[in-house]
Amino acid sequence: MEIKRAQKIEEIIAELKKLKTDLNGYAVEKNIEFFEAIKSPMRYIGWLLFSANKIDKEQILELSDFPKEEWEEDLHKNLIKMERKKIPGMIEPLKKKLVQIINDKNPRLVVNLGAGAMELERQIIEVLLKKGSAKNVTFVAIDKSIIAKRLAVENLAQFKEDIELEEVGRVTKDRLLENNKKNIRVILCSNDIFELDKEFGEGFFDVVCFAKFKHHLQDVQKKRLDTIIAIIGKYIVEFDDYRSWWLLIPQSIATWGYPVLMNGAVFSRLRDYTKKELRGRSVAGNRLSFFKNGSYMIESIKP
Ligand SMILES: C[S@@+](CC[C@H](N)C(=O)[O-])C[C@H]1O[C@@H](n2cnc3c(N)ncnc32)[C@H](O)[C@@H]1O
Repeated sequence: MEIKRAQKIEEIIAELKKLKTDLNGYAVEKNIEFFEAIKSPMRYIGWLLFSANKIDKEQILELSDFPKEEWEEDLHKNLIKMERKKIPGMIEPLKKKLVQIINDKNPRLVVNLGAGAMELERQIIEVLLKKGSAKNVTFVAIDKSIIAKRLAVENLAQFKEDIELEEVGRVTKDRLLENNKKNIRVILCSNDIFELDKEFGEGFFDVVCFAKFKHHLQDVQKKRLDTIIAIIGKYIVEFDDYRSWWLLIPQSIATWGYPVLMNGAVFSRLRDYTKKELRGRSVAGNRLSFFKNGSYMIESIKP
């Protein structure tokens, strides 16, 4: 495992060096520093103590943000594995909340922004099918990544007899208003998230949610996203990790054997909001919760 890991790190550094000239130079440089550091625990501790806190969260990119299929695939496959583990239950609070909303409120349209390989929906659908409790719910998964979409289809393959699954480039209002043929319908698409207000309008989606997505955006995009979801959604659930130095330690240990996932785990934590920032964003009527696994949730419901 150590040899494979070391080899993988060398390959990543070599690929990053090739990228350096034509892409975001700052992000490439910081990624190279990170991968040099994780060659040994001592070097990594040094990096955590002296370099990590100087990283500019507006400019940094995670490895999977670079247009390289192999890195994206590696991240999503390992993310699925981690998200399936009962401990730390990475997406458990959001899964429980969405199952509860679906059971209590019977939403017709649930959209997930930056849905990735759809492990969240896979876990929710598993519960709904077991209970036989889903009635005409359509999960709309939006993601710009073709790799994520392919992995999502594979991830949901276990339900192929029980759900309707459609893959489209851009989903339209009319298509979403069509009647479901089965109780659970899933639509994978890559609509531009920043145009959703123009395409769908006021309160079109019963539920808008997203997990581990917002930290990928720059500040100006985060503000635009907040405006858009407030227009298109009736019930909004934002879920991500919060920034905490302490949580970097167990996370680094858990992902040490998987360099791409470790990069995503550590860099995303550095890009996340702090608890203080999250409390500062809180507005009347919103409910902010923190969870032991290092995540937060903001629920906002339109009257
Ligand atoms: C860390 S992954 C999280 C995936 C999934 N939500 C989960 O929790 O497993 C972030 C996802 O956001 C997607 N993404 C990032 N920026 C995006 C954008 N502007 N539009 C659509 N998807 C985006 C990426 O392709 C990636 O699949």
